[in-house]
Amino acid sequence: MDAVYIEDIGRHVGEDIILQGWLYNKRSSKGIHFLQMRDGTGIVQVVVSLSDVGDKIFAVGEALTQESSFRISGIVIADPRSPGGYEIHARSLESIQIIEVDENDPEKQGYPITPKEHGTAFLMENRHLWLRSRKQWAILRVRHSVIKGIRDFFDERGFILIDTPILTPAACEGTTTLFETDYFGEKAFLTQSGQLYAEAGAMAFGKVYCFGPAFRAEKSKTRRHLTEFWIVEPEVAFYTLKEDMELAENMVAYLLKYVLDVRKAELEILERDTSCLEAATKLPYYRLHYDDALAIVQKAADKIEGEHLKWGDDFGSPHETYLAEQFDKPVFVHHFPAHTKSFYMEPDKDDPKYSLSIDLLAPEGYGEIIGGSQRIHDYDLLLKRIKEHNLPLDAFKWYLDLRKYGSVPHAGFGLGIERFVSWVCGIHHIRQTIPFPRTLERIYP
Ligand code: 4AD
Ligand code: MG
Repeated sequence: MDAVYIEDIGRHVGEDIILQGWLYNKRSSKGIHFLQMRDGTGIVQVVVSLSDVGDKIFAVGEALTQESSFRISGIVIADPRSPGGYEIHARSLESIQIIEVDENDPEKQGYPITPKEHGTAFLMENRHLWLRSRKQWAILRVRHSVIKGIRDFFDERGFILIDTPILTPAACEGTTTLFETDYFGEKAFLTQSGQLYAEAGAMAFGKVYCFGPAFRAEKSKTRRHLTEFWIVEPEVAFYTLKEDMELAENMVAYLLKYVLDVRKAELEILERDTSCLEAATKLPYYRLHYDDALAIVQKAADKIEGEHLKWGDDFGSPHETYLAEQFDKPVFVHHFPAHTKSFYMEPDKDDPKYSLSIDLLAPEGYGEIIGGSQRIHDYDLLLKRIKEHNLPLDAFKWYLDLRKYGSVPHAGFGLGIERFVSWVCGIHHIRQTIPFPRTLERIYP
């Protein structure tokens, strides 16, 4: 008989099945063990009663310690009082590996992450084990579904996936956060964004997206920055800023609807109040010109912890939080001053001190989750910008070619997966939204 997964036991009520997994928790009283068994797909209570299984098997239940691995056979019982709605009445029980615990032996202290509270440093130290804990499990299952939702969204709309390189000869998002590598005696950098290559893709396939890891040597310690994160970046030929915003809000609303539907149980484990997410399934989102956004934060300067801003400054995290709080749905800030933004952004033709750029701010203090823009499609202007930013012309020759051969207006954006998952899960520190986070403090494990 094949083993069944816990997520499927609802289809086996009344049947005799085999489960294999690990001990999450245990409660025992005279003649009965209640084993919380997890198998990666879920947790179920296994009831082992001495009168059903006899001394020998009952003793195996006795010996199981937290995270010991084991296999059981038993009958699936529907029981509305059990968490999940089912429990198993064990017929047999077999250990695979018992974690021996001996308080006097420093080598046998048992599974390090016990049900008691632990500090984050300790948990990060044990990230490879922490993944088994219920909340981490729930967060990463949400992440999985966010990524599936992204692929479905673009697939359904005929976008082509373009895999962009990770080793690159030049910077996309400023030279201050580059990770440098030695490429056979030449300098190469870990990519900060696949956008420039996605632009080549858009000219070849019309509408494309790239989806992969990005690297930034962010020297500030914040709860919103990783040095290695995942980013999805659509890029569409003939799009202007307006269509770009529409695509971004449609994608976000689609993802929220999908995740609220398929990851309801996980969001409950995370005790996530989903009202804000539900509100954000309704379109359109708000649109706020940079100058209006600036006026709002300037007016409230005394209430905002961050520095006082003047025209041309970028918003910091406290400003973004305050701005987003003024709205009941996500808000786009658009037309950022051109000089603060990336070299490739199209200037507003009516007033070139502004760029055709957007940030999408999530509510509840999560801040910027999307950054995007319309791109410069004029050859001479782009060349000028590359020079102004002191970028190596050689490395951008191919990028300039895109403006030489049938150049068209085009636009795109990037959504940071971890920022988005943080918001969906209501987890303020981004490091819990990726299996193995890399931050300024450490590369681990
Ligand atoms: O605003 P950013 O820097 O934009 C770009 O990279 C453009 N090339 C995107 C495009 O137009 N195709 O980054 C986009 C998003 C941010 O809004 C944020 O969600 C995420 O990427 N992000 C980070 N996430 C985690 N850690 C970091 N250090 C991040 N830097 C950016
Ligand atoms: Mg940005």
